Amino acid sequence: MQIDKEVVLITGASSGMGRATAIYLADRGYVVYAGSRTPQKIFDIQSDNILPIKLDVTDTHSLKTAISNMPKIDILINNAGYGLVSTVEELDENEMKAQFDVNVFGVLRVCKAVIPIMRMQQSGTIINISSFLGKIGLPLLTMYNSSKYAVEGITDSLRYELRDFGIRVHSIMPGFFDTEFARSNLVANLDTFDKNSPYAKIVSSLAPNIVEQINNGNDVQEMAGLIYDIIRDDNFPARTTAGEKASKFIPMRRELSDEDFERRVREYYSL
Ligand SMILES: NC(=O)c1ccc[n+]([C@@H]2O[C@H](COP(=O)([O-])OP(=O)(O)OC[C@H]3O[C@@H](n4cnc5c(N)ncnc54)[C@H](OP(=O)(O)O)[C@@H]3O)[C@@H](O)[C@H]2O)c1
Repeated sequence: MQIDKEVVLITGASSGMGRATAIYLADRGYVVYAGSRTPQKIFDIQSDNILPIKLDVTDTHSLKTAISNMPKIDILINNAGYGLVSTVEELDENEMKAQFDVNVFGVLRVCKAVIPIMRMQQSGTIINISSFLGKIGLPLLTMYNSSKYAVEGITDSLRYELRDFGIRVHSIMPGFFDTEFARSNLVANLDTFDKNSPYAKIVSSLAPNIVEQINNGNDVQEMAGLIYDIIRDDNFPARTTAGEKASKFIPMRRELSDEDFERRVREYYSL
């Protein structure tokens, strides 16, 4: 199939940043393949430029089927992700693996499937949705934060690997944004949230604070606009922040020593 318009693949497009970005880009003339484990959730969007596809980033077969139906791929947005809330001591082996399976191996699987297509085209843009927590440690979020640290490493390494093929790779580190993330996509370890957990004190102070900050976070339109800007600017920086929390903490992380930065985070979150 010949197609003149630029073609975008977004993972996790049924809600939040993925959904907003799909609509934003479709409104600006891009053809958007909007991936979701439940594509029916996208059927309500009225746009000829949005094509809902079944895509589970943990399932190579679903990924290959989804991609085989695409005429080309100019832009890949690795957006699907969720957050596990658990102490390390209480981690369940399956929960632990599942977090990396989606947030890290999911990104790698989709890249592995899409890169050959972009390499043949000798062009492409890959945007990884990381987090400002990809540069900050926090208790209860070790698995989530380390998964996003890994996404930062993927972006940095792929930039070298793919440059000669005309493929550019970027990361966005959002602060907290008001999406379905805290309402539907935070997975709580039951032992950590048990009232008898040795970590009950930190759970009762930090967990509601984080949930509240996410639910009162920035508007996803900011993310959609930023992704559009990255797509359109060949010289856009490798990584960028979005939202208030990221623009507060990421420059601080760059400027302060590890110890001074840790002190600031401790003060901010009463740790
Ligand atoms: N909201 C925030 O404050 C925030 C801050 C920093 C970074 N982020 C990151 O931004 C990205 C988008 O999140 P969002 O805030 O827009 O949240 P969201 O509304 O919950 O959307 C997340 C999407 O990821 C997909 N997903 C969730 N769990 C999955 C799983 N187990 N397996 C496969 N796909 C899964 C879902 O897609 P389907 O259900 O359609 O398959 C969902 O549409 C994530 O990578 C998140 O880590 C969010």
